[in-house]
Amino acid sequence: MTSATPSNQDRVYIFDTTLRDGEQCPGATMTFEEKLKVAETLDTMGVDIIEAGYPFASDGDFEAVREIAKRAKNAVICGLSRAALKDIDRCAEAVRHAQRGRIHTFLSTSPVHMKHKLQMEPEQVYEMVISSVTRARNHIDDVEWSAEDATRTDFDFLCRCVEAAINAGATTINLPDTVGYAVPEEYFDMFKRIRETVPNSDKARFSVHCHNDLGMAVANSLAGVRGGARQIECTINGIGERAGNAALEEVVMAMRVRNDKVPYWTNIESTTLTHASKLVSAATSFPVQYNKAIVGRNAFAHESGIHQDGMIKNASTYEIMLPETVGVKGTSLVMGKHSGRAGLIHKLEELGYKLSRNQIDDVFVRFKALADRKKDVYDEDIEALVDEQLAHAQDVIKLVSLTVIAGTHGPQRATMKLDIDGHPRIEEAEGNGPVDAVFNCIKALVPHEAKLELYQVHAVTEGTDAQAEVSVRLSHNGRSMTARGSDPDTLVASAKAYLGALNKLVMKHERDRAHAATAAE
Ligand code: KIV
Ligand code: ZN
Repeated sequence: MTSATPSNQDRVYIFDTTLRDGEQCPGATMTFEEKLKVAETLDTMGVDIIEAGYPFASDGDFEAVREIAKRAKNAVICGLSRAALKDIDRCAEAVRHAQRGRIHTFLSTSPVHMKHKLQMEPEQVYEMVISSVTRARNHIDDVEWSAEDATRTDFDFLCRCVEAAINAGATTINLPDTVGYAVPEEYFDMFKRIRETVPNSDKARFSVHCHNDLGMAVANSLAGVRGGARQIECTINGIGERAGNAALEEVVMAMRVRNDKVPYWTNIESTTLTHASKLVSAATSFPVQYNKAIVGRNAFAHESGIHQDGMIKNASTYEIMLPETVGVKGTSLVMGKHSGRAGLIHKLEELGYKLSRNQIDDVFVRFKALADRKKDVYDEDIEALVDEQLAHAQDVIKLVSLTVIAGTHGPQRATMKLDIDGHPRIEEAEGNGPVDAVFNCIKALVPHEAKLELYQVHAVTEGTDAQAEVSVRLSHNGRSMTARGSDPDTLVASAKAYLGALNKLVMKHERDRAHAATAAE
């Protein structure tokens, strides 16, 4: 994780196409306002070139590119255009107000595209490369030309087209892996050979543009850079046609974290990556894969006991970058059935509990039981668990087991086993509803005169598997005692709460008796 002194030769320009290749994929359409917001973020986070849209596609696209061009403070604003002259003119009009504008024009060069898509002969394509780039250059100095489907193009023909495009005035040459078919070695080789073979290759900056159909978009992009390209076309969260484009956050962090092996640098402020990811996800309504590199919600989360233990001892055991460097507040130790003792102790300390060894043992057993029944154990669940344990440590009457039969074919029936001062006792009772059956069971096991004054249920967290927290107030002889019980099962929580209040009444009674006996002596 070392970094050499950055040199201009190793500087890689980030060309973001979230608003064009990203937005054109099915379902990712953004509103005008959303596009402006995304563009503003890209402009402030250090993106060098923002491809703001395809102006000829619609009036909406045209307006968005034009407005972004007017507002951008730092980045070059680029519009995409096919090779048709009308397209190019419309694109030029859209980027006209940018402090720095670019026209990006493209044409397919592979045999399969030329034959089936364009239905043109290679010589016609060659002529069109020259006429389209010339037209664009008549409008603006900054012109990018892309050989669509470059990775499936005949090498000699690709060299001819690239040379012609540079001669016509293209300042950036993009060689896309349009269908995500290339492998890194091959993509590296293509750039190296093109740059060595094309006589005027030193007059233009070369660019990579990789799709992710085989999951190699980032690896291919970095291989292209190794082959001499110095611009990466990418998108936030990797959105884009089909399987998407190379993810901006991944290429940027790969260069930063593994600068020893990928010795290039960009102008991106990495702490903005998480914000940009969330913004694009919200604008497009495209969720970010949980385990997505860099910006997925699990990218800095650890659940397994072994990993949590390592993380507590030293974060470098399981994290190769600080979460803060990509704008995440910190590592999160997610509590679940794979968490171990060390993770729980750490979480308890974080929540402000100072427990004895025995108390921790007890909480750990109950935490494991809860985690087996509940997918995510939130901080609130752990708090409920500990609070209940602390509140009921002295209880004389303890719940051992409970079974309830409920449903439309009443009567509801409960079977309960209690530990009463060390003695196990079991009883069965019916009731007018399952809660009534549970409370009748308690009355059968521990006969008492206390009156139920309050019964309240609420969920500790969200979701259908959330823990229920039940409050019960009992009164006897003018004294009221309230207690709470929590459990994913509302009836178990009800039993715990009732027993909690009853225990308090019993203990109060015992204390009063002891007090009276001492007074009489
Ligand atoms: O994937 C591709 O080839 C493109 C071009 C328009 C650059 O998106
Ligand atoms: Zn593309």
